[in-house]
Amino acid sequence: MGLSPFLILWYVWLSSVSPRPSTAATVSDRLTQNQVLEDGQTLVSSGQRFELGFFNRGNSSHRYLGIWYKNITLTVVWVANRNKVISGQSGSLSMGSNGFSLLLNNSEKIWSVNATRVLESPILQLLDNGNLVLKEENNPDLEGYVWQSFDNITDTLLPGMKLGWNLKTGLYRNMTSWLSAEDPSAGDYTFSLDSPETPQLVLSKGTQKQYRWGPWDGVRFSGSNELRSNPVFIPIFNSSREEVYYTFEVIDQESTLSRFVVTQHGWIQYLTWSKSSNEWVTMVTLQRDSCDRYGTCGPYGNCYSDGPKCNCLKGFTPKSPEDWSRIIWSGGCVRRWELECENGDGFVKYGGMKLPDHSHLVESRNLSLEVCEVECLRNCSCMAFTLIDIHGNGGDCVMWFGDLVDMKHFPSGGDDLYIRMARNELESIADARRNKRVRVIVTIVICVATGMLLCGVASWCAFRIRKAKRRAASLNHPRRYLMEETQEEDLELPLFNLKTVSAATDEFSFRNKIGQGGFGPVYKGVLLSKQEIAVKRLSRDLGQGLREFKNEVILVSKLQHRNLVKLLGCCIHGDERMLIYEYLPNKSLDYFLFDQTRKKLLAWKKRFGIILGIARGLLYLHQDSRLRIIHRDLKASNILLDSEMNPKISDFGLARIFGADQTQEMTKRVMGTYGYMSPEYAMSGHFSVKSDVFSFGVLMLEVISGKKNWGFWHPDHDLNLIGHAWKLWIEGNPLELMDALMDDSYSVDEVVRYIQVGLLCVQQRVEDRPTMSSVLLMLANENAMVPQPKEPGFYTEVSSMGMDTSSSGKSRHTTTNEVSVTMFDGG
Ligand SMILES: *[C@@H]1O[C@H](CO)[C@@H](O)[C@H](O)[C@H]1NC(C)=O
Ligand SMILES: *[C@@H]1O[C@H](CO)[C@@H](O)[C@H](O)[C@H]1NC(C)=O
Ligand SMILES: *[C@@H]1O[C@H](CO)[C@@H](O)[C@H](O)[C@H]1NC(C)=O
Ligand SMILES: *[C@@H]1O[C@H](CO)[C@@H](O)[C@H](O)[C@H]1NC(C)=O
Ligand SMILES: *[C@@H]1O[C@H](CO)[C@@H](O)[C@H](O)[C@H]1NC(C)=O
Ligand SMILES: *[C@@H]1O[C@H](CO)[C@@H](O)[C@H](O)[C@H]1NC(C)=O
Ligand SMILES: *[C@@H]1O[C@H](CO)[C@@H](O)[C@H](O)[C@H]1NC(C)=O
Ligand SMILES: *[C@@H]1O[C@H](CO)[C@@H](O)[C@H](O)[C@H]1NC(C)=O
Ligand SMILES: *[C@@H]1O[C@H](CO)[C@@H](O)[C@H](O)[C@H]1NC(C)=O
Repeated sequence: MGLSPFLILWYVWLSSVSPRPSTAATVSDRLTQNQVLEDGQTLVSSGQRFELGFFNRGNSSHRYLGIWYKNITLTVVWVANRNKVISGQSGSLSMGSNGFSLLLNNSEKIWSVNATRVLESPILQLLDNGNLVLKEENNPDLEGYVWQSFDNITDTLLPGMKLGWNLKTGLYRNMTSWLSAEDPSAGDYTFSLDSPETPQLVLSKGTQKQYRWGPWDGVRFSGSNELRSNPVFIPIFNSSREEVYYTFEVIDQESTLSRFVVTQHGWIQYLTWSKSSNEWVTMVTLQRDSCDRYGTCGPYGNCYSDGPKCNCLKGFTPKSPEDWSRIIWSGGCVRRWELECENGDGFVKYGGMKLPDHSHLVESRNLSLEVCEVECLRNCSCMAFTLIDIHGNGGDCVMWFGDLVDMKHFPSGGDDLYIRMARNELESIADARRNKRVRVIVTIVICVATGMLLCGVASWCAFRIRKAKRRAASLNHPRRYLMEETQEEDLELPLFNLKTVSAATDEFSFRNKIGQGGFGPVYKGVLLSKQEIAVKRLSRDLGQGLREFKNEVILVSKLQHRNLVKLLGCCIHGDERMLIYEYLPNKSLDYFLFDQTRKKLLAWKKRFGIILGIARGLLYLHQDSRLRIIHRDLKASNILLDSEMNPKISDFGLARIFGADQTQEMTKRVMGTYGYMSPEYAMSGHFSVKSDVFSFGVLMLEVISGKKNWGFWHPDHDLNLIGHAWKLWIEGNPLELMDALMDDSYSVDEVVRYIQVGLLCVQQRVEDRPTMSSVLLMLANENAMVPQPKEPGFYTEVSSMGMDTSSSGKSRHTTTNEVSVTMFDGG
């Protein structure tokens, strides 16, 4: 009756992976006076979530006292003696009458905590949130904790830990990375909340700043949407007389384990434990925007996340044009006109900015912009000012002295910055503006009868006189100009009237309804001229003025490409708004792709053509059109097919038409569809052309496999389609991803290249995803260099479904079957 070989193997495996001696004995969740915790024993919190004890990592023989999660693979969240190892001897934690100490060989003290007051019956307790606290057993609430490990952050920020300042006690908490995976001693990277007056988040390597987010402007850390409300965790910034800190809460606290960590390589990541795949999943990496890399564009340079990087602010020119043209930007820019403090400097307003570094809080009171401006004007070394509400007092006057560094262009929710400019600069701005007006007037005058010419000349003269007057007057007053380019175009608006549209669609009869998208129903119609049209009747909650709506329709209707559905015009009647498109007979891609019979019509050659067509259309939207358009809701049902199965992207420009991010005042509206949304977009509403690339990647994998990403199911694992593709890729069987119903007219190399490009498009990190132009290059050119993909983003159902579990969807619409989402993240 011997043991089965399997059991023996299992036993051997168990004993080899156990991180701690198998004799580990649990004491309880606390130590009372004179109790000792020996190496091998542990304290376990009452809810079984955390455990305190001695550990070592990897092959290292160094032992540390630390806290880790109880039930999962050893993940240490706190280390007591990170800078003083226990080596070759055994350590113990000993509770005394007024504190506790970590002893070596039961005698030498290597780390200790002493209470600053006399304690009656002290205990050391491990709480279920991972906090190790020293307190009075009998009067727990008397004066809070005497000491807590939450005040001694290592590299991990647990929910409820506060990063920042306690102004009363002078305590300053920051996070410092481990030196290596095996060595918890302090590494190179520190993540901190800098300066309690103008708090900003800074990642530094040694003493060098590497990344910066902020300062806090009352709504967000300036220039960053990463740490705003999202479906997974609630970021909290609190500033009061006693404390200034950043912390976070997890929405689903009961079942979710999450933490922020600064890794040994300096990444700041938000991780969540995935029960199904038994591993930590990175939900957010803070360093997403390369423009947040500190000082990328040098002084007075303005960084553009998705463009050619650096531009000088208006009124400035590259310090070294030669370097600048060789894309060496660190030298930055210099003023066109030197300041002359005594001679009428003024301010120019730059909107949509990430505020520069080295801000100084001048007054924290409910101040007005004018008072702040006068204060700044008075001091010749004040280079810029702004009014933001850092501390919740209504308006804080913030100033900058010296060169302005580390700014970026941040249209979706940036701040205003008022920069000091020389008088000459201000005048040239004013002149340019007046000349523009004069030009318009002159044009009108010429167009009118010659008899009116005299009158025109007179009005031109009036302008000159007014200008001279203003020049004289302006010497005595501080001046401020809005630096904005207003371009107005008088284009013809393709307007349909309601009668026409109504007649064409048989009064929007149900029979003519051909679809229902996130923006409203779509009807088929036939105009009197026999032309077939598709009418999209927009939902009424546009939240946008008529004028902007018209402007956007005009702009979008100018976009023409064979892979875009043509927008013919619009119809406005009362608060009813409709978009009129050309009609395509063949329905949408999902109609074919996800149907067992119809998908047979899509042979590999056709699928290949569809992918290329979509890529071309998207490239046009991103790069080649006059407007840079980010689609934001690319998915199979938004790809229409013409009679020859050529793909045409529909619904592009809707984000613009809806005015989703036109004005700073409006809260941002996240549109998209689960399964296609990139991690950064879903988590924080941060979008760029690369979020479209992500959706395109998902679409590619769907076209190749004939399966949906959202709702993908596989008997062997819990991964979604992205994860499935990735698994097959690393296992070396990419071809298994192909639709089983596909004919065998494909070339293996081509399919593998397509899958590889698809995986590149769905990379977790924005920087790792190619642009559409390189996607096209890699797809169309069989000799193109295609980089190896790394781990993709959102590849488990858990990580993408995690968003769906949030119950706080106070303003979230979900339309049936398509699962289109609209989220508003309020400020
Ligand atoms: C950890 O495991 C124990 C026993 O296996 C269980 O009672 C406890 O609920 C688990 N704790 C958590 C937080 O999952
Ligand atoms: C640990 O030691 C084993 C055998 O000595 C070695 O193969 C392995 O690479 C080491 N692991 C690390 C992380 O150093
Ligand atoms: C630790 O203690 C043991 C006995 O208590 C002693 O033999 C040993 O030398 C001590 N080691 C050190 C490094 O002090
Ligand atoms: C705590 O007090 C003990 C003596 O009681 C002393 O040796 C030790 O250095 C103190 N530790 C700290 C951190 O002050
Ligand atoms: C925090 O930990 C470090 C290193 O372990 C130690 O030097 C420091 O005294 C601790 N601070 C507090 C407040 O306990
Ligand atoms: C982190 O905190 C420690 C202790 O308060 C402080 O000495 C250190 O300067 C801080 N580091 C940074 C980069 O802020
Ligand atoms: C902010 O901190 C203060 C003082 O610590 C506290 O009283 C207040 O409740 C906190 N506010 C929030 C929103 O957490
Ligand atoms: C201008 O402000 C700087 C920084 O606050 C200060 O050091 C300097 O004395 C001020 N100069 C004048 C003239 O007020
Ligand atoms: C600031 O002042 C304005 C009017 O001067 C007032 O409406 C507002 O409530 C004040 N805000 C705060 C936070 O005191």
